[in-house]
Amino acid sequence: MDVNGTVAVITGGASGIGFGIASALARRSAKVVLADIEAERALAAAEVLRGQGLEATSCYLDVIDPASWDATADVAFGHWDQAPQLLFNNAGVGGGTTVHETPERIWDWVFSVNIRGVYLGVKTFAPRMLESGLPGRIVNTASEHALGLPPNLRGGIVAPYTAAKHAVMGYSLCMRRDFEGTSLSAGVICPGVVQSDIWNAFRNRHDTFGGPRSLERPGPHPMAHGLPAATAGERIADQVETDEFFIFTNGPDEAEVLETFTIEANAAMAAFRQRYGV
Ligand code: NAI
Repeated sequence: MDVNGTVAVITGGASGIGFGIASALARRSAKVVLADIEAERALAAAEVLRGQGLEATSCYLDVIDPASWDATADVAFGHWDQAPQLLFNNAGVGGGTTVHETPERIWDWVFSVNIRGVYLGVKTFAPRMLESGLPGRIVNTASEHALGLPPNLRGGIVAPYTAAKHAVMGYSLCMRRDFEGTSLSAGVICPGVVQSDIWNAFRNRHDTFGGPRSLERPGPHPMAHGLPAATAGERIADQVETDEFFIFTNGPDEAEVLETFTIEANAAMAAFRQRYGV
């Protein structure tokens, strides 16, 4: 899909991968809406892009709140008086520990933001995008965690995060099916490790789930070993322009997870079929 001249909404657009996507799209002459729970940071990020002569605006969005989604849609459809053709459900948070030690409120927060947020975005935007008649694409940011299980040394032991990202993958596959024959299509981004502030995601935890907590500390950036978010954004924009469903950022990280999962699952299936002769 040619992004030139389109309106693109990016949730979590104030930081990390979201800002990388927004910058890459804006450089390709898209008009970008940075929608984020960190409204001031989104405002500043949009100003940075406008300072480069690019078209950008921002708005407050809490992806778990339907009313906030409606307000975001009004900004997105109204700001340039043009229907958005791209929605990136990218906002996400990381947290949790093992399957049996994760507290309920962390489980609920991670699932609310990472999958309910995606569902609400689609529920709010898809009908209005379809009504516009313009070709459109809704792309969800899942993770390499959606392709299997990354080694624990990469991304830590975050059971609810992994489970929620598998849900994002399942929902994205359903979107691809359900949009078939319409003006919409779907995509799913499965990033490996990318430089961002996700390690400090608790800064945005809602009061209902235990409230905000900053993990900021002096020293080197905890994700400095990751792929620069600007590079991830460019690669994502390339793959959106060639209409890929599966969208990757790093390569080796995602391939390792996918191969480990498929080799094991295929071997288990082969053994099962042999056992029962089916
Ligand atoms: P980040 O923390 O830098 O950016 C996340 C953005 O989402 C922030 O701007 C934050 O304010 C916003 N946000 C958080 N809660 C929100 C809410 N309730 N409503 C609206 N906005 C909210 O982190 P990053 O890494 O850029 O995360 C973007 C997406 O990429 C997430 O879905 C994450 O799970 C995914 N991802 C990141 C990887 C990485 O290595 N950085 C790897 C795989 C996936």
